[in-house]
Amino acid sequence: MKTIIGLDELRASRLSFKGTVGLVPTMGYLHEGHLSLIRLARAECDNVVVSIFVNPTQFGVNEDLSKYPRDLERDLSLIEPLGVDLVWTPTPEIMYPTGYQTWVEVEAITRPLEGSMRPTHFKGVTTVVAKLFNAVQPHKAYFGQKDAQQAAVIRQMTRDLNFPVDVIVCPTVREADGLAMSSRNKYLEGEDRKAATVLFRALSAAKELYEGGERNAGTLRGKMKEVLASEPRATVQYVSCADYDSLEELDVIKGKTLLSMAVLLGKTRLIDNFVLG
Ligand code: PAJ
Repeated sequence: MKTIIGLDELRASRLSFKGTVGLVPTMGYLHEGHLSLIRLARAECDNVVVSIFVNPTQFGVNEDLSKYPRDLERDLSLIEPLGVDLVWTPTPEIMYPTGYQTWVEVEAITRPLEGSMRPTHFKGVTTVVAKLFNAVQPHKAYFGQKDAQQAAVIRQMTRDLNFPVDVIVCPTVREADGLAMSSRNKYLEGEDRKAATVLFRALSAAKELYEGGERNAGTLRGKMKEVLASEPRATVQYVSCADYDSLEELDVIKGKTLLSMAVLLGKTRLIDNFVLG
């Protein structure tokens, strides 16, 4: 497994690859969720590239960039046994040199949900993912359903900009009690960690209604809010029942649907979602 920082070295390695290339973009501090993407890439592609880059441009001014957990040595030891060919760990100066001034912005589907709480977030995500696609030139790129809107935004960008990349969205990996794995879970302490299962419980309750035949989106949103309200430690930021592709809020559920939510537990912000249909 090669670890590379510079863009020239990355390009040279890329040129030496024969066959298909799979890319797994990450911000590091890896957990089973990330590893599941890497395993799928390994199974599907001749060459696997993992990028580790805590992308400053996707963090808002009041967000946790400086506190974002980092442990490259641990990350490399988790990746090594998976048979990854190349790990790319560029620096902020490489990705955004002095004088940098080009951005990729996706419009309507970046506005609701996460976009409504984090207005500059997706501009940073799409810009860095476009740069990663250009640098690595993968045939396939792997993203998690955990970040459902991010996956939808990247699918949209890939279509709109004609990137010859197959965007693969992989299922959310969860702890035994249902909590979706996240690098930010390490901030959850004591009672907040226990309370964090309320997201999974709220999504499960709404899904149960759906499976019982309920198709009124307002009723499902109401159910999720009711379960979340039963946990006094949780502060709800949004609860949504939206069309899977456009992310527009629904009145009545017809096709593929995304149930999603953002909840604060203390200072830790958690997101989770289920796909219906
Ligand atoms: P990061 O939060 O490190 O996540 C990297 C990838 O892992 C994302 O595609 C994310 O959806 C996926 N992932 C995270 N938790 C998961 C889980 N529990 N189950 C399955 N997949 C999971 O998302 C980012 O980084 C960044 O925004 C990035 C795309 C790298 C651009 O900077």
